[in-house]
Amino acid sequence: MKLENVVKKFGDFTAVNGISLNIKKGEIFGLLGPNGAGKSTTINMILGLLSPTSGKILIDGIDMQKDPQKAKKDIGIVTQETVVEPELTAEDNLMIFGRLYHIPQQELKKSIDFALKLSDLEGFRKTYAGTFSGGMKRRLETAKALMHTPNILLLDEPTTGLDVQNRTKIWGLLREMNKAQNVTILLTTQYLEEADQLCDRIGIIDHGKMIALGTPSELRQKIGMSNVIEVSADKEDMDRLKAIFKKVGLEPQVATNRITAPGGSKATEKIEMLVKAISASKIAIHNISMHEPTIDDVFLKLTGSEVRDQTGEDTSRTRTLMGR
Ligand SMILES: Nc1ncnc2c1ncn2[C@@H]1O[C@H](COP(=O)(O)OP(=O)(O)OP(=O)(O)O)[C@@H](O)[C@H]1O
Ligand SMILES: [Mg+2]
Repeated sequence: MKLENVVKKFGDFTAVNGISLNIKKGEIFGLLGPNGAGKSTTINMILGLLSPTSGKILIDGIDMQKDPQKAKKDIGIVTQETVVEPELTAEDNLMIFGRLYHIPQQELKKSIDFALKLSDLEGFRKTYAGTFSGGMKRRLETAKALMHTPNILLLDEPTTGLDVQNRTKIWGLLREMNKAQNVTILLTTQYLEEADQLCDRIGIIDHGKMIALGTPSELRQKIGMSNVIEVSADKEDMDRLKAIFKKVGLEPQVATNRITAPGGSKATEKIEMLVKAISASKIAIHNISMHEPTIDDVFLKLTGSEVRDQTGEDTSRTRTLMGR
């Protein structure tokens, strides 16, 4: 799948500003970016739902603009909005979809069983989808998109709003399909952890532009940070803490309630100096730590923007780019 300098304008506003991408067969690629970055717009152009203002999209070498029917044939889709039929059982939801995709009658039962197993919903075959939790609906939908065994699967924020358990289940499902059938997967996400753990390569997108592209470890190396020193404290203390970082010779990056800095080879020494200076200042900190750079650190360094999670709590487990 290839994108060549793709631009999408809505009137005067440029939502996607010259994105180029080459996604390899069998790759899991994550487009990571905050609200309004242009993720859905990009995916919708790849799906042929929106046409680019300029640029080119090729699916297996087929031009999406010139031959959309043929280009779309191999693509499975999971859109940002969940679209299971609440009045139908899990099984019937799959059946209708299978018929829509012209799965032959004799194969239909097998592919329904496969989808139910894949989504871990075998026990809910005859249950109305309307009674499902958000995570169950999302799993049903993801398995549904895989029923017609597409070569390419596009997912727009497949796990946003889901709990950790459901998120992990969806990751498992995607990994399994990727491994077993070499399905190429392009997904968008606001979850740093999702991009980091699930994706072979990540493209970080902000204001319609690709600001970084590479494997998670390449991205970490790219920012040239090793031994990230991180201190979290109350928002009001950030300015004073920033000054302390500078005093001990560190270059602070300030987020809402935490400061990070590359510690380099002298990280241990720096952290000692930092602890001393902080205790002398009587600032009550929440936490001080040293860690290898995360995608979160990459984002902060590249955009200079703060990264917040949905609830405003600073927990790396759930940290996302939402509400930036
Ligand atoms: N049909 C439209 N008309 C005008 N502006 C639009 C349209 N669709 C999207 N936009 C704007 O383009 C920008 C990118 O939107 P897009 O939906 O691609 O973001 P996103 O990265 O998917 O965000 P989210 O994480 O919230 O889903 C936003 O500023 C949005 O308001
Ligand atoms: Mg979106």
